[in-house]
Amino acid sequence: MVEANLLGIHALGVDINPLTSLLVRAKTELVDNPDFFAEQCLQATKRAREHPPDYNPAIPNHETWFLPQAQEELARIFGYLIINPDELPDEVRDFLLVCASATVRRVCNADPQISKPFVSRKMRERLEAGTVEQRALHIFNRNTRNFLDRKIKYMRTINNLATVWGYYPKSHMFEHSDARTLSEIADNDIDAIITSPPYANAQEYFRSIKLELYWLNLIPNGMLASLDRTLVGTERLPMSECDHPPTFGIPDLDTALGQIYPVDRKRAHIVLRYFQDMRSSIEQCYRVLKPGGYFGLLVGDNVIRKVPVNTHVFLQHIAENIGFNTEHVGYDRIVARSLTPKRHETAGIIEVEWMLIFRKVGF
Ligand SMILES: C[S@@+](CC[C@H](N)C(=O)[O-])C[C@H]1O[C@@H](n2cnc3c(N)ncnc32)[C@H](O)[C@@H]1O
Repeated sequence: MVEANLLGIHALGVDINPLTSLLVRAKTELVDNPDFFAEQCLQATKRAREHPPDYNPAIPNHETWFLPQAQEELARIFGYLIINPDELPDEVRDFLLVCASATVRRVCNADPQISKPFVSRKMRERLEAGTVEQRALHIFNRNTRNFLDRKIKYMRTINNLATVWGYYPKSHMFEHSDARTLSEIADNDIDAIITSPPYANAQEYFRSIKLELYWLNLIPNGMLASLDRTLVGTERLPMSECDHPPTFGIPDLDTALGQIYPVDRKRAHIVLRYFQDMRSSIEQCYRVLKPGGYFGLLVGDNVIRKVPVNTHVFLQHIAENIGFNTEHVGYDRIVARSLTPKRHETAGIIEVEWMLIFRKVGF
């Protein structure tokens, strides 16, 4: 959404994750008086310091994740931002919630190198040595200054560009929007789509940020599992749905599913579910695109239970069956891998990402 705005494009954003719309608002919302906005944000970080530590969301096993000092300082910050929401203008509060959310993993006991919260041996050693960072208020203040710096530069750039263009790009992120239905978007309405969908067997999006979601009060009690079920390729499948060999209808994919099934029945059905969800989502992309519109999709292949799954080939097959023409297939080698998901060792590491470019016929 940031890049679309910087290109002068009116963009619509879709993601099921409730944190995404908050992030996009915090990054892209323009304010009338940036100096006053910055002053309000910095004032609020001081008030948070004085706020009583009386906000404690029901995080399961919270003592595993936070030592008392971090817990107390986070309770002051989030308490100030969440308990009296009317005290701050919406744009200030949204921005500070993002700064606070970026503080959570910095002061928790989970290993920062692993995307899903996990207390590794390295972290247990640091806990014993008393060297796990605890200063949430300090980090919140530092995040706020850093993010303010970036936001002010972004706003200055957009304002300058808007003077040249004669308009401001209008972007909008739909809240909790599901790519499998795109229910907010009309038929034949969109010029181009760019998507980086989940990978089969690669990420657990809500589990990775569950601590942030709990502090932000974005997962009411016991709702994490139901959020998980909305993800493309959810891992939350009941075993009762996994008692028959899965088939999708693409011969090579069915061969791969047939090889995974005897080793891991549930995993085979998770992979099937992934391709079913992706088919629904690609059908919706076709529906909302204008004739002649472009559709770009970035995805990696997988090795699942030692079975190669050529995800990009199968997605291309699905897209062409729906009616898309393939315009280009390219790839990008993944160089930086700062966050390693904690994977089963047979899951395989994605080495390249494939960029598939399709076009809707009829122009
Ligand atoms: C590889 S990430 C890409 C994130 C973001 N678009 C980017 O490029 O940084 C995949 C995203 O798909 C989202 N997602 C998973 N299932 C979804 C669904 N049913 N509808 C919409 N978004 C979904 C996840 O929340 C996650 O943010």
